[in-house]
Amino acid sequence: NTTIRSRLNLTRNPEGIAGADLVLDGEDITLKSVRVDGKNLKRSDYRLTQNQLIISGLPADCVVEIENTCNPETNSTLMGLYVSGGRFCTQCEAEGFRRITYYMDRPDVLSVFKVRINASRDYPYLLANGNMIESGELEGNRHYAVWEDPFPKPCYLFALVAGEFDVIEDNFITQSKRNIDLSVYVDPGDSNRALYAMDALKRSMKWDEEVYGREYDLDRFMVVGVRDFNFGAMENKGLNIFNSSLLLADGASATDLNFERIESVVAHEYFHNWTGNRITCRDWFQLCLKEGFTVFRDQQFSADQRGAAVQRIKDVIMLRRRQFAEDAGPLAHPPRPNNYIKIDNFYTATVYEKGAELARMLHTILGPDEFRKGSDYYFDTLDGTASTVEQFIECFEDACNRDLSQFLNWYKVAGTPHVKCELERYDDRALIRFTQSVPTQSESSATAPRLIPIKWQLISDTGPVTDQALTLLSEKSVELDVPLSKTIGDITLSAFQDFSAPVIVIEEKTTADLIRQMGQDPNSFTRWEAGQSIAAKLLRNLAYSIQTGIMPAVDDTLIDYCNALKATLISNEFDDAYKALILNPPSEQEIIQSLTGSDPVAIYEAREWLMRAIGEHLFDTLKDIYATRNNESEFSPSSEAAGQRALKNRALGLLTATKKAIVTPLVLGQLENATNMTDELSALSQITQLGGKRVEVSLKAFFDKWSHNPLVIDKWFMLQGTRKTFEGIEHLTKLTEHK
Ligand code: BES
Ligand code: ZN
Repeated sequence: NTTIRSRLNLTRNPEGIAGADLVLDGEDITLKSVRVDGKNLKRSDYRLTQNQLIISGLPADCVVEIENTCNPETNSTLMGLYVSGGRFCTQCEAEGFRRITYYMDRPDVLSVFKVRINASRDYPYLLANGNMIESGELEGNRHYAVWEDPFPKPCYLFALVAGEFDVIEDNFITQSKRNIDLSVYVDPGDSNRALYAMDALKRSMKWDEEVYGREYDLDRFMVVGVRDFNFGAMENKGLNIFNSSLLLADGASATDLNFERIESVVAHEYFHNWTGNRITCRDWFQLCLKEGFTVFRDQQFSADQRGAAVQRIKDVIMLRRRQFAEDAGPLAHPPRPNNYIKIDNFYTATVYEKGAELARMLHTILGPDEFRKGSDYYFDTLDGTASTVEQFIECFEDACNRDLSQFLNWYKVAGTPHVKCELERYDDRALIRFTQSVPTQSESSATAPRLIPIKWQLISDTGPVTDQALTLLSEKSVELDVPLSKTIGDITLSAFQDFSAPVIVIEEKTTADLIRQMGQDPNSFTRWEAGQSIAAKLLRNLAYSIQTGIMPAVDDTLIDYCNALKATLISNEFDDAYKALILNPPSEQEIIQSLTGSDPVAIYEAREWLMRAIGEHLFDTLKDIYATRNNESEFSPSSEAAGQRALKNRALGLLTATKKAIVTPLVLGQLENATNMTDELSALSQITQLGGKRVEVSLKAFFDKWSHNPLVIDKWFMLQGTRKTFEGIEHLTKLTEHK
């Protein structure tokens, strides 16, 4: 048992109901005593229900002291206070604090917290929010620490950690020259694998100062990694807690994707200090106020660290896979929902990813300078408050002198709008028409037009023929008349450059249009998208052939597509990370989403066939790419080095798909010589594609090599669980029984 003593300094809200009861939340905890202004309450002086402690007739000002116990050892909900790997930690968002003590567990109740932790010396580190103001010895091999967090906060941002850790320490000097002590706490022995997270933290702190003018506010910032954690990570004030899988990485045991993820999650939780902690949510309906905006901020950060085009493509792939699917199904809901049954289930793709798209659209509509004016005004005027989405938008209206009432609708309705893009060419002008609609199947969707920012440009076979334009579609439809020189040949409309709004874009484009974009579109996003559209077209046709028993064959579209890929691959205009992305045709799932009825096996086979065809057509180019990129001397997690590995391994994947004999030694050689997990895991995955006896041998060797590292063994399981060559369900069942 852990004993919690809580002292609440209460003042009756003069605007509240006169004489109202004090109602405190509590869950799975045992009440021991209640005192008011130093006097013990009798059992008849309060009411205790399953989830509430109710005290009547309190004076206007009083001190309520509560003693209760909880049992962290047996707490397997991972909410409230629990034990993970012998260390105590907490998770309070959304409603976990009530599992620690009786409290008004809602985000609009803000308070300063002072925390004293008493514990056995077996728990050397005693951490809580804010600054440590005192610590010392106690009798019986025990000790204590006192922490004070001067910033008023809701209890969901409370955190406590106690246990044995390895610590890495560093510091950061803020723009106003204050020194901040930084520490990362990890399982003993893991400290070398926490260096990247520390580096990502320092870059995040600098970025938030430069891009949003936001400085860190306490004297120390701590990050803790724990093995058992329900979520990725949590932004507790001054004491972020991470699932160790999103904190620990070194080149040998973590992939580039792991590094990328760690960088963005560290940034995300740090950025919450302003968007979530200093300005928090009035109620949980406003969740996207903090999560949507913070995801947008971490996406902007990653774009600055790793390249805007590549980041945008990855974000859009995720958005479409997760959020568009959610929006098209029975769980569709507005980014700011109107009702929920349990808030724990409302941390959805729509709240997070569509929420981020809404912040991004605001940024696009206003432009970076006006957006910054608005966000400065938001931080100035609402600091220290629990706010709403309306208040957020109002700040931008006031600071930028704009009417954003139509934009606000995005937050209130569900469903993904469709936007049809049409182009008519006349001799000396072009007519462009954008038309929006909302598919009627989504019940909670409204049909009133939304404000949709559309970035577009016209391009010909020799390049752009207009500058990039921004059109704000506010009606159902808009028509634009664009003057053109008669001498310009065929043109194509490149619409929704940078994917400027979260909509389903409807375009009737010829293969020639798409090939033109693949070669000439100055916007890297729409250029990539054009390639994806051709590949999707090919995949749908191939799947149809396979389904109807016709042998797929190479056609002109495929050849044009491969040639366009090659042009991008050999150009020095694009970085390796981008080249790796264009070599990855849409996933099976994306194709399934784009069809009303589909045969998953046929789509799978179609994709295999396409990969093989690309591999064969571009064999020499890919071999060349592989050879020139396979030359790393010392591991670096930098975005350039990661891009190089991504392209190299993508090339190897396509080469493997050809099943040509000369590829096998490349794959085996890479597994043998790999000095980083990205290359090692990629080679192992290719081997499972090659098939044969070596598959089991290599899997076993990999297991033996890494059995001491649970994060790597997770990858080993994942590889087998998602491996393409179908081994039968027995193999998976057997894996679930693995020691
Ligand atoms: N505040 C959340 C953590 C959280 C999630 C608490 C769900 C309660 C319920 C945190 O800021 C967060 O969003 N974490 C994400 C990762 C992030 C990079 C999107 C997570 O845990 O998946
Ligand atoms: Zn978050």
